[in-house]
Parts: sequence; structure tokens; C-alpha cells
Amino acid sequence: MKKISEIKNLKDKKVLLRVDYNVPLEKKKASNGKYKMVVRDDTKIKETLPTINYLLEKGAKVILISHLGDPKGKIVKDLTMEPIGEALYKLLKEKMECTEIVKDNYPFDFIDKMAGGEVVLLENLRFNIGEEKNDTKFAKYLASLADIYVNDAFAVSHRDHASVSKITNFLPSYAGLLLEKEIEVLSKLLAKPKKPFVAVTGGAKISKKIGLIKNLLKKVDCLMIGGAMANNFFKAFGYNVGASLVELDKIIFVRKFLKNKKILLPIDLVVGDFDGKKGRIVQVSGSSENICEKNEAILDIGPETIKMYEEVISKAKTLIWNGPMGYFENTEYNKGSDEISRIIAEYSKKGLLSVVGGGETLSIIKKTGVATSIAHVSTGGGAMLEFLEGKVLPGIRPLIRQ
Ligand code: 3PG
Repeated sequence: MKKISEIKNLKDKKVLLRVDYNVPLEKKKASNGKYKMVVRDDTKIKETLPTINYLLEKGAKVILISHLGDPKGKIVKDLTMEPIGEALYKLLKEKMECTEIVKDNYPFDFIDKMAGGEVVLLENLRFNIGEEKNDTKFAKYLASLADIYVNDAFAVSHRDHASVSKITNFLPSYAGLLLEKEIEVLSKLLAKPKKPFVAVTGGAKISKKIGLIKNLLKKVDCLMIGGAMANNFFKAFGYNVGASLVELDKIIFVRKFLKNKKILLPIDLVVGDFDGKKGRIVQVSGSSENICEKNEAILDIGPETIKMYEEVISKAKTLIWNGPMGYFENTEYNKGSDEISRIIAEYSKKGLLSVVGGGETLSIIKKTGVATSIAHVSTGGGAMLEFLEGKVLPGIRPLIRQ
């Protein structure tokens, strides 16, 4: 991997730093009574500070580029980088002389006037259609702004986009410190995990995690499944799952794994309706065909399942967790996810090497306040999953030394 520590002279060099500032935003009332977008969770921004500070200390001119949301080549007011710039200013102000946010167009003049040790944040890359199309012209255009390209955006490195992969054809390219850290931890996990190595996976869609399940089953000792993903297994066993989320076209895939001894499925569930008025616990037993009534859905794992998963986690030495255990946005159905986060944190304090990733999973550990106990919190959602599937990501491939 080509690392930024190998760049000999950064003084006054223009460094195009690709970050992932695709962070959750919310609307807030400003002092003038109008609503504006503000950053709700600045974790991803904070994670890039070591690379920014490293470059600034070496006297580089840092040009930050990121996407935000998916405006599909159009300028969308609520997806401007302005709130990100404000959050960044709060974090960096001591170190910056310049925090200008340049909108709409790419600012050759502005960058030319920057001094070494200054930083600028450019507008949302996906306002330009060339970004997601991996357009050569757009990549060349971005490259023409700088002398060096640094990728510190692990979370978007699974995308073959102009600012992620194509640009590396036109500038000397390196991995930032965050990208380096993510790759190091996740590679170690796949190559030499301390055993027992276990995984907890959940979330709404099994279709997004087929590759992950296949690859993890080759490596882990136990794969604990929760969330709507588990519904597909119950459906495949022939249970009546009522209005639960199921991907019928994935049942064939699931059938192949029904007898896999490494897979653990919930033994009890919380079922109810989506508005959370009547959650009830149901035991999953071979003698009953019904888990749900017609209008009910499976919305969380039950207390016996939490105990069973804790038993496995308590013996593990290495663990990966991605995806909620239920409909965690509703307080009636968040216990499974919250408890799993606390259990993982508790055993992490006792030496479990835990790696947690994915947007929803991160919001759970943030809410339960356990993030600091987790050994590695990955900034990547889809990127982490694809990395763990064993793929070489398009943003990482060009940085690997041949
Ligand atoms: C993420 O938040 O996972 C990354 O920023 C990638 O975003 P995308 O799924 O819109 O490409």
C-alpha cells in the first residue's frame, strides 16, 4: 500500500484529499428563525482529522473532496457541503487559516492563492454527473486541481467513481491514515483471527449480505443472525411469518444453509405491528407452524436469544458485528440491538477483539454509549461488507504496490 508517510516533500504541495463526509444531517432552526441543515453525527469527520493534521503540519495545501447523499448529478440545496464545513471549522479552527467553502464550481484561482498549511472544502462531488459515472473528463478535471491525491475515504472505496478510482490514473496516489487503519484491522481479522471467531449479522436485507455470509462462513466458528435477515430462514423452514419482511427470491439461497451448524438463529422473537403498540414474545418451536398472526411481523430477537448469543460472545476472542437485530428505530423493538451492543462492549473490555461497522449499527452503539469500548469502529458500511466478502475494492486496488 502506498502510504502518505512515503511522500518526501509535502511543503506547499496541493493535496486532493478524498474523504467520506457522507454524514447524517438534520434540520435545525437557526437564530434568524429559518431552518438549516446541521451535522447530526460528526464521527466520520473526526476520523479524518489525523490525516488532515498530518498534511497541514507538513505544510501541504489540503483540498478536501467528498460526496454527500445521492443528488445524482443535480445541485440539491439540502445536500450542500456547507454544514460539513461548519462542523469541520469547529474541529479544525486552531489549525486553519482558511475555511472557505467554495460552491458550485471548482476554484482554480482560490486554490492557487492558498498558502501551505491551509485547507479548503469543495462542494458535493455528486452534484456533478461525472462523479458516479467514473467519467475520465471529470477525474482529469479534479486531478488538475492538485499535485498529489490521497484517499482517506474507506467508506466509499467500494465505488468505482471518478474521485475514488479513475483519478488515480492522473495523479500520484496514496492511502490516508484512516484508510490505512481500516485496511490493517479488517485484513488482520480475515487473515489471522484469534479463535473462537464469531460474527453477528442483522439488518433488513439478506440480498445485500449474501457475499458476506458465504465468505464469513469459511472463516468464523459461529454466525449469529438477527433482524429481518433471519425471517428468510424461518420462511424457508416453512413457518408462517405473517407480514414480516422476507425476500422471496432469496429463499433458494437460504435453503442451502438451513443445515449449516455454524449458523445460529433466534430461538424466540418479538412479534407485533410496525407502530409498536403490541409487541409479544413468541418461542420458535418445531411443533408450531405459526410465528406470526396474519398482520403481525417479526420485529426483534427475544430475551432467550439474547442469552444464547451472549453465551457465544462470552467465549469468543474475535467478533464482527454488522446490522441491527430488529426494528431498532422503535423503542418497543430495540432491546435486541441495544443488549447485543452492551454485551459486545462488556466482553470487549475483557479482551474481545471487536469490530463493528455499518451506519445503523454505529447509531446503535452511539445511542447505548458503548462506542469507546469497541476495539475498532469501522467508518464503512457497504465498503466494510464488500471488504469482508474478500473483494479488492476499486478505490484500494490502485494504491496497492505492484
Ligand atoms: C456510505 O455512507 O456508506 C458511503 O458514503 C457510500 O455511500 P453510497 O452508498 O451513497 O455510495
